Amino acid sequence: MKLGRLNHIGVATPSIEASIAFYRDVMGATKIHAPFDLPSQGVKVCFVDTPGENGTNGTQIELIEPLGETSNIRGFIEKNPQGGQHHMCYEVPDIHAAKAEFEAMGKRVLGEPRIGAHGTLIFFLHPKDMGGILTEIMETPKDAH
Ligand code: CO
Repeated sequence: MKLGRLNHIGVATPSIEASIAFYRDVMGATKIHAPFDLPSQGVKVCFVDTPGENGTNGTQIELIEPLGETSNIRGFIEKNPQGGQHHMCYEVPDIHAAKAEFEAMGKRVLGEPRIGAHGTLIFFLHPKDMGGILTEIMETPKDAH
């Protein structure tokens, strides 16, 4: 496994609207994307950009709010009512190669690769195999950066 770009940090929130106001008014974010529903993951999503070097895109904050009664992050919000850091997402050039490499190292992949919020394939790794951090691996978008 070769460590790729930190694409985003997932932040669970009970209210994307309130979190947008926080990142705009407290943190000074100037590029906040339109929120959208991602029913396959049971979340409403909103990306907040941080600036990268020389005008490139930096790491994003991925705000995620529970969508639907069976949302995976509903339990997280119950334990952390004001929300908080939920996962970290690294890019890889080839999602299937990355999955095979992690599995060969005995890391538990949660489910099969599926389309994530950036429209490319993603999977998650069990936090207990990853230093306590729920880790998302995503294939780098073709038009990225
Ligand atoms: Co994510």
